[in-house]
Amino acid sequence: MCGIIGYIGSQKVLPVLIEGLKKLEYRGYDSAGIAVAGRRHVRLCRVKGKISDLEKKLNQESLDGNYGLGHTRWATHGRPSEENAHPHQDCTGSFVVVHNGIIENYLSLKKELINEGHAFQTETDTEVIAHLVEKYFEENLGEAVQRAIQDLKGAFSLAVLSPLDWGKIVIAKMGPPAVVGINEGEYFISSDINPLLSHTRNIVFLEDQEMAVVTKEGFQFFDFEGKAVEKKVEQLSWTPLMIEKRGFKHFMLKEIYEQPQVVRDTISGRFSLESKKLCLDELGLSPQKLKHFSRVVILACGTSYHAGLVGKYFIESLSGIPTDIEYASEYRYRDFILDRNSLVLVISQSGETADTLAALREIKKQKCASLAVTNVPKSSIAREAQGVLLTHAGPEIGVAATKTFSAQLTALALTALYLAQVKGKLKEKDLLTFFQQLQRIPHLMESILGKAKSIQELAQRYHAYSHFLYLGRWVSFPVALEGALKLKEISYIHAEGYPSGEMKHGPIALIDEKMPSMVIIPRDRVYEKMMSNISEIKTRVGCVLAVASEDDREILSNVDEVIPVPSVHPLFTPFLTTLPLQLFAYYIAAIRGVDIDQPRNLAKSVTVE
Ligand code: G6P
Repeated sequence: MCGIIGYIGSQKVLPVLIEGLKKLEYRGYDSAGIAVAGRRHVRLCRVKGKISDLEKKLNQESLDGNYGLGHTRWATHGRPSEENAHPHQDCTGSFVVVHNGIIENYLSLKKELINEGHAFQTETDTEVIAHLVEKYFEENLGEAVQRAIQDLKGAFSLAVLSPLDWGKIVIAKMGPPAVVGINEGEYFISSDINPLLSHTRNIVFLEDQEMAVVTKEGFQFFDFEGKAVEKKVEQLSWTPLMIEKRGFKHFMLKEIYEQPQVVRDTISGRFSLESKKLCLDELGLSPQKLKHFSRVVILACGTSYHAGLVGKYFIESLSGIPTDIEYASEYRYRDFILDRNSLVLVISQSGETADTLAALREIKKQKCASLAVTNVPKSSIAREAQGVLLTHAGPEIGVAATKTFSAQLTALALTALYLAQVKGKLKEKDLLTFFQQLQRIPHLMESILGKAKSIQELAQRYHAYSHFLYLGRWVSFPVALEGALKLKEISYIHAEGYPSGEMKHGPIALIDEKMPSMVIIPRDRVYEKMMSNISEIKTRVGCVLAVASEDDREILSNVDEVIPVPSVHPLFTPFLTTLPLQLFAYYIAAIRGVDIDQPRNLAKSVTVE
């Protein structure tokens, strides 16, 4: 949901901003712009479109300087257009603002400002910030921004500069993330750490209600009341190489192929062969405390929600603890009943999703124990949850989540086994058996990836269909949802995920020769039921593609296409059955020639409600 970048130092600012924006582009990509500050005035360049369009426009203009701001947008207020692209300015063009978030009271502020004589140029909510800073400016930009943000309601992470107080970037955070990168004689402002990795590992994370004034000489942090705040400089462990494509055509494909390693990395160091026990001391919740939870509640959005659904089956089957799952966006507005015996698990790859973060804050108010499963170590959710289980997937750039899903499944399997361990639900030898099954998964994933060519050929045969039904039952139901989500988000083909037991209650009416069904049918406790569903589809001349166990001969004569996957413990089949569905969606999107890493209308990190 929009990416912000800023730089002040001695490098030429333009390449720093452009390179930074490219690494933030997954956050939004409908329009983009930059501002370069001169001593007398600020020069802007904005476009509707992507960073590549901005680059083309910049080739025709010369913007020189060592200090500026950049923005890539995901429109909330005001359609994507050049005028609505950030940075935005006040009436005089002296105050320049980039913003991520939503100013909820912008209409009333705009009305007041117009009454006071301010002239607006855009349809955005952001423009009010520039006019407010203009209104409050006397001689100090930091003070003017501090006064302006008192008037704002909503979520924002913003950066402001002005030639009237030259040499400063002022930033403020209330909701969406903001970080400052520190190097000798130069400072970077960003929405996340990705653009900073090639420049520095020294980062300061802003908390809500904090602001900073950054100059070439240093920085100062304040709270919104203007009181100085001491901040800790954190050292990052991610490397620049992690955000390169490394020879793959798209980030999504590279990330699909990284999954075996991601599962290995997420398991690594979390089981002691000596004691034959899982060691998750990092959770921040002692085994004694965990033992007493009689209920688990999982909250998440998007693909993380699908991982959570699989997690529910893991936790219930392995530890015997009743587990509920809820969309974080729904949880926020319903009268959900939690008690102190409930452990709340929030799952978010980015650690910044607005609804999940708000749900976590709600839980904390209710004084319930919270555990976050996230991929971003210093993200808001990681910092605010009581305990954290990190998924070691490295940065995920493709907007459609793939490797982080597998990493989340791994973390959830570990959590379920750990809960089983502390509750004494599994015998030592059974715990070891499950752990060994988990350890086999990377190798089995590699064997599926080795046969990607056959999935590419399958995509060739099916890319022209307009609708797909994805069906699964028990642990394969969330896989059906995730497979359908992957197909619709990157190929724009309508795909519906359904629990196959529900097929007769509606979706069967859609079945005809134009609507293929992707059926996830590994050999498990619902295999026979799934076979009956397949027969019901075939009777109605529906075409069936089946993701099935590779030793299943029976399936061959019952369906049109088979995607074989190796056998594993039935509970862990989602690790393997999801992979071909990711590849299928990827290859179909590639044949259709759409923008795989940046599908239309989507953003990787949804930091607004
Ligand atoms: C967006 C992304 C999805 C992601 C969802 C939740 O919609 O496009 O890929 O699953 O947000 O994100 P989170 O970071 O909380 O897992």
